[in-house]
Amino acid sequence: MGTPGAGKGTQARALAARSKACHISTGDALRDAVRNGTPLGREAERSMGQGLLVPDDVVIGIVEDRLAAADCQGGFLLDGFPRTLPQARALDALLARRKQPLDFAILLAVPREEAVRRLAGRRVCDGCGTMYHLAFDPPRDAACCDRCGGSLAQREDDREETIRHRMDVYARETAPVLDHYRKAGLLREVDGTGSPDEVLERLAAKVA
Ligand code: AP5
Repeated sequence: MGTPGAGKGTQARALAARSKACHISTGDALRDAVRNGTPLGREAERSMGQGLLVPDDVVIGIVEDRLAAADCQGGFLLDGFPRTLPQARALDALLARRKQPLDFAILLAVPREEAVRRLAGRRVCDGCGTMYHLAFDPPRDAACCDRCGGSLAQREDDREETIRHRMDVYARETAPVLDHYRKAGLLREVDGTGSPDEVLERLAAKVA
């Protein structure tokens, strides 16, 4: 968990690569659906472009399907879910049914201004999905992916106005979810500042 731009995706991918856990990102799943023009993608596109949350039942359905997939039977790492109290309660019920309890929830703590800087400079390859940051992790050519030569683009919701909106939605809808896990004794906080490698080592120590 963490604000937009806290580094959830960067760290979840790196942590999953070190373990048997699958990486479940509701944001990635929704962006795939938008790219593929599925009915779910068409429903989600407008909310995402405006920095609003997609309806709870849609994302709960995505997580339920992914948890049942073969690659998630060795464990899972949720990225960007749950983001509302109803999502957190639905996850509790789902995991109880699956007899697969949550080990912990991790909050990646990053000051708002730093998170905004990270989002404003983010560029993503439209070919292979590799993520860059113009200042912190720049590609050799600002327009081209180092890995596959694809075009680099700014995410629709990474424009300044929408970033501010997403931060407000986080404070209103998602911050209360932290209390849900704090009360359950499951919340672990990790300092998300510093280089991605430094954050990864801090995280790995917290989950060991
Ligand atoms: P989602 O994709 O989940 O977006 P988000 O939570 O806003 O998070 P981001 O992906 O923007 O940031 P991040 O924390 O993953 O940071 P990242 O590692 O990418 O969701 C998008 C939308 O989908 C939502 O707005 C909503 O509409 C919908 N949605 C998704 N889940 C939903 C749900 N559960 N319920 C309802 N709607 C949902 O890093 C950001 C940048 O910083 C990158 O450029 C990276 O290279 C750089 N960076 C990372 N770490 C560092 C570091 N340590 N130092 C310097 N730069 C760094």
